[in-house]
Amino acid sequence: MNNRPADLSSAIPALVSPPALSAPRPSGESPPIKLGILASGTGSNFVAIADAIAHQQLAAQIQLVIYNNPDAPVAKRAHERGIAAHLVNHRNFSQREVFDQQVADLLQAAEVEWVIMVGWMRRVTQVLIDVFPDRMINIHPSLLPSFPGIRAVEQALAHTVKISGCTVHLVRLEVDSGPILIQAAVPVYPEDTAASLHARIQAQEHQIIVQAITEIGQN
Ligand code: GRF
Repeated sequence: MNNRPADLSSAIPALVSPPALSAPRPSGESPPIKLGILASGTGSNFVAIADAIAHQQLAAQIQLVIYNNPDAPVAKRAHERGIAAHLVNHRNFSQREVFDQQVADLLQAAEVEWVIMVGWMRRVTQVLIDVFPDRMINIHPSLLPSFPGIRAVEQALAHTVKISGCTVHLVRLEVDSGPILIQAAVPVYPEDTAASLHARIQAQEHQIIVQAITEIGQN
């Protein structure tokens, strides 16, 4: 018997319409929304966003990237595309609130409208949330509310789930909580490792993060 789950690729991403976030922008001549990207890692989601903008598939512009880890490859990927990248090293701050204030100051100085967290491995405080209320989204590599927090892909494998995926949601104080905007599902195969499953999830992340930004830009 073939125990392999059905190929879900034609059925995904499974979309959930975002709630009304604000009054709709008038169609036609809306200016591109101004994004601030927060990222700590390799930046493949940043690249997906930047490429969608470059190919005119997404009406947005990236004002700046903020990264907190000096070795984060996302910085080089931003520089290669001529996008400003600022290091705010959390190790230089004794309080999360002061770190978040520095991040908020940079975002505001760059006239950012929406904050996009793509692999931002920092818990946010009320300081940042108050500056961008309902204007921050995060992407997470699980079907929330299952497996919030770190090592989400490993958590899913440990529970031998048969379907996993990724979620874009509005940011709230509690880690990986907040209203869900879009999810995409992927099958989990018996032979999967964390790396192989994460790669399958990331292929979907790159689509739904662009779709989420498209949708928030239309509201
Ligand atoms: C993504 O899987 C995201 O869901 C998680 O961190 C990863 C970042 O990947 N929060 P990348 O740096 O965009 O490649």
